[in-house]
Amino acid sequence: MSLKEEQLKKLQAECETCMGCPLGKTRTKLVFGVGSADAQLMFVGEAPGEQEDLSGIPFVGRAGQLLRSYLSYVDIPADSVYIANVLKCRPPKNRDPLPEEEAACQEFLWEQVRIIQPKMLVCLGRIAAAKLIKPDFRITAEHGMWFEKNGKLITAVYHPAALLRNPNYKSAMLADMQEIKRKLDSFV
Ligand code: URA
Repeated sequence: MSLKEEQLKKLQAECETCMGCPLGKTRTKLVFGVGSADAQLMFVGEAPGEQEDLSGIPFVGRAGQLLRSYLSYVDIPADSVYIANVLKCRPPKNRDPLPEEEAACQEFLWEQVRIIQPKMLVCLGRIAAAKLIKPDFRITAEHGMWFEKNGKLITAVYHPAALLRNPNYKSAMLADMQEIKRKLDSFV
């Protein structure tokens, strides 16, 4: 196991016992994160849904399948990236995360970023973008725009669940994913 893998494992163990907000009591499983500890590209979603809560793995439901199909289409191996969420526990009935839940959980996400050191962060949807880019992020107007924060490139794309609800967003998603791949290749 690499040093980064060990550090992630230790952090996950800490996170497993977290009761920093009431979601610690209602979760079935903690959904810490999945993927390569050496990822150059890290995706951050909102919070686990039902399938994720049951399996303990982020983005395994329909939205996740769609995300993986975009990765495959633009030739990014799913196991080369890291995928996590702003919240590690499922909010009841998939409601939006509360500010106090985000506050209680955020140090785990920052620590994941510190360990993995990805070159690029991609927010999946408005909630992650509001947390990671700027509070008033407008996903319709600002998806696919690039920002720089602490030496990392950061952007946001539509949340794959939004694409399931509104297929009109799919062409924008494809263009954004192609640009992500182009930028990723420019690092190699
Ligand atoms: N939606 C998210 O934001 N995260 C998941 O892990 C699954 C669905």
